[in-house]
Amino acid sequence: MFKYLLPVLMLLQFPLQAQITRVAHRGGRTLAPENTLAALRAGMEYPIDFCEIDVHQTRDTVVVLHHDETLDRCTNGSGRIDHTDFEEIRKLDAGSWFGEKYAGEKVPTLEEALDLVNGKCGLWIEIKGGAADYPGLEARIVRLIRKKKAHAWVQVISFDTQALKRIHALDPEIKLQKLLVSNLGAFPFFLDKGLRGGSPRRLDFVDGYGIYYKTVHKSLVRRMHKWGKTCNVWTVNGQENIARMRELGVDGITTDEPGWFREQR
Ligand code: G3P
Ligand code: CA
Repeated sequence: MFKYLLPVLMLLQFPLQAQITRVAHRGGRTLAPENTLAALRAGMEYPIDFCEIDVHQTRDTVVVLHHDETLDRCTNGSGRIDHTDFEEIRKLDAGSWFGEKYAGEKVPTLEEALDLVNGKCGLWIEIKGGAADYPGLEARIVRLIRKKKAHAWVQVISFDTQALKRIHALDPEIKLQKLLVSNLGAFPFFLDKGLRGGSPRRLDFVDGYGIYYKTVHKSLVRRMHKWGKTCNVWTVNGQENIARMRELGVDGITTDEPGWFREQR
């Protein structure tokens, strides 16, 4: 009888061991200066499925990688990206703030990021602000995904539902994720780009949701699965938190420290 016990126990464990989608936040935020090609190169050395990046648009409409709307925190420059031409941004040092080793690292374009990643892992492109902030941004992103034939390994993610709708209208083959900060159970509101009443609704045109991990709970994961959507969480650091998210049954985990994934499969 005991000879059957071990395989049965292994089978019972299977749901906890289901493979998750492993995502390196901002390329590999703790490894190298976030949202640079160095960060993407560093992230790709870890056992990950996707790198996540953030994009904005320069005054002269180049789509570039950057988390903040301004250049102050992550370069030696300052000012708003949409008030600055690409040529100016390109002169800036986007690496020294992280470490001398990265001095001279540039703010990359989305095209450069797509060329570097090129399907070696996947890429989640987060639109920080859609057409209301950056006219024509969605069409430029779609053009680049098509030019690089990247549909199989790229997803576009955003808090901005309108931006996702525009991407879908331009190219329904592109996979999308709607980002949410929270769905606070009993409280009749949730947060995405703004504070909204009600609970997050099923959006038929998205493939999944990306939720702040501290507000996710089992019934929400179940609801999203019932809708046929993935439930992904950000930004989860530390072995215990990652293990807890896996127990909730989430599909994807974004972390600043992709080294945690070495222990997790
Ligand atoms: O994946 C979503 C997550 O990246 C949102 O947070 O501020 O790091 O872009 P943020
Ligand atoms: Ca992001």
